[in-house]
Amino acid sequence: MVHTMTLQDPSAHHECEPAWLTALQPALSAIDPLRAAVLRRRLRTHGARLHARLQGLYGQQAGFHDFTVSLLTAALKHAAQREEALWQLDLAREARPEWLHAGLTGYCAYVDKFAGNLQGVAAQVPYLQELGIGYLHLLPFLKAGQGANDGGFAVASFADVEPSLGTMADLQVLCADLRQAGISLCSDLVLNHVSHDHAWARAAREGDAAFLAYFHWRPSAEAVAAEERHLKQVFPATAPGNFTFIEERQAWVWTTFYPYQWDLNWAHAPVFRDMAEAMLNLANHGVEAFRLDSTGYLWKREGTDCQNQPEAHAILQALRALCDIVAPACLLKAEAIMPTQALPPYFGLGELQGPQCHTAYHSSLMAASWVALAEGREDIVREVLRHTPDLPKGCAWLTYVRCHDDIGWNVLRPELTAMGRDAQASLLAAVQHYAGRDGQGARGASFQASDDHAVHGTNGMTLALTGLPPGAPAGDATERALARMGLLQSLSFFVGGLPLVYMGDELGQDNVSEAELTVRAGPDGRELHRPVFDEVAARQRHDPSTLPGRCFQQLASLARWRRRHLAEDRPVSLRVFQTAEPGVLVLGRGQALGLFNFTGQPVQVDLRPLAQPWPLWQVADTCRPLDSELVALPAFGQCWLTSSTDLYADSGA
Ligand code: GLC
Repeated sequence: MVHTMTLQDPSAHHECEPAWLTALQPALSAIDPLRAAVLRRRLRTHGARLHARLQGLYGQQAGFHDFTVSLLTAALKHAAQREEALWQLDLAREARPEWLHAGLTGYCAYVDKFAGNLQGVAAQVPYLQELGIGYLHLLPFLKAGQGANDGGFAVASFADVEPSLGTMADLQVLCADLRQAGISLCSDLVLNHVSHDHAWARAAREGDAAFLAYFHWRPSAEAVAAEERHLKQVFPATAPGNFTFIEERQAWVWTTFYPYQWDLNWAHAPVFRDMAEAMLNLANHGVEAFRLDSTGYLWKREGTDCQNQPEAHAILQALRALCDIVAPACLLKAEAIMPTQALPPYFGLGELQGPQCHTAYHSSLMAASWVALAEGREDIVREVLRHTPDLPKGCAWLTYVRCHDDIGWNVLRPELTAMGRDAQASLLAAVQHYAGRDGQGARGASFQASDDHAVHGTNGMTLALTGLPPGAPAGDATERALARMGLLQSLSFFVGGLPLVYMGDELGQDNVSEAELTVRAGPDGRELHRPVFDEVAARQRHDPSTLPGRCFQQLASLARWRRRHLAEDRPVSLRVFQTAEPGVLVLGRGQALGLFNFTGQPVQVDLRPLAQPWPLWQVADTCRPLDSELVALPAFGQCWLTSSTDLYADSGA
């Protein structure tokens, strides 16, 4: 066991020790010897990588050695203060990096909408357990800027909980309760920007040189225009442009998202130090996973679109190395809503080799599944999966059907182009379909599109998008919408290393009502799919004759099947089969086969060409043997089959 390893004599390795490690001896000597021994080992394993990444980023800056030593000294203090339960979790996960492949299911919710406040979330633990949740992402709960704050993504203090949601003490209690229940808490760590209300931004606005350096400034409209020529826009309709004029400074500050979200200057070493401190402080309160928000934008390079720059990956690798030293139980999740081709580096598979994030949103798969559903054909999903690389051990794709953001369509352009299709026309058709403009019954809304022919994003809750008629009257249209939702969820659960359920979908909640949207009065169309948890629907979750009951039971079953059939000790290796039936996707994974019918017609899938010799298949939901080689799938139907032979595991890393 790692924690019983022999203590090392601190002087034993001095000769080959780098200067930064030698400089840490006083800090290590102040720590309990058992812990110090573990930390010394981790420093030897991960410290050089951390040092190399920091050197690449800040090595040219004066005082780099002292910066590194003081960063690591502070980090060691966090390690020494880590409470025993977390320290033990660190040791356990460090010894078994494949813990992430145990068939986890995630859940994502706003604290206030789900349960009022952090204490309310603790009271929802039994509900989450019933659904089979092992990972809970609570959308930003740290102190946010006054007024509009992008759903909490404009953070005013990383060291305080938003007062209306609770306190840091509540957070600590909640994390412990969740851990006890086998649920890891994930917090956003908004790396790219802070609120203009944050103390750093306030000081910068007042002209404090130490804090002016925390942000990116441009002195003139011409300088801004020169940058804008290369940049894209995240919110072209509600927050056009990437810079905001600051009266007090008579200069423009870089604001990729809303004008009140000031991009941090990660080229300035103290930004790294302060954000690392924020992360480790939260980890010591019991946070077990960080959703690294907007990771693609962290580094600015003149003349580029400032996305996915190599230095952004160096920053993430350095943060990961810090976690590996101080809090290895923590999982890092990249929120990089980028085309599939840009994602491998987030797993350390790019030029800059080395551990980086454990998981990342597979937004292309998500968007592709919606396009496939609109088109009634599966080929775009097949193409995306073809471009999806196998991941290193201890890494997993985060899959999802919906989340708090819009469905961003443009990530799919590379795949559509590779298929020889007109990307603009295909995506526009999806936009029109989900805005209900083709008469098929979807009730979503376009997001940030300047006109009816622009392609950007789509908002709406899952069932509204799959065509649930208002009020969900019994009948074909409701059945069709439910089947379509089941198809997308089943695909996400089958492919994902970590599938995420978005709060409300498990109860089949509808879009936020017009009346409620008027009360919320904000320019942000994403409010359409940010409902308050429906207590009445939740009470119906055990009644299979109700819509909430059907949705809840379906997702709970998928979570159960995952644990039973897709728990593996390595990353997912998927096989995508070519089938004779148009519109049907057949995937193999370990001992399971997933069949997904994207057409509005019943189909029969002939399994014979897929596996030789013919295994004994069981249907996952009934555990009954499959009695025919022809599997009947209803319109938009799906099913999982399992066998006792591992037919499809091949190239798992
Ligand atoms: C991420 C969040 C999104 C937010 C943006 C800016 O993309 O998911 O909700 O608006 O970052 O912080």
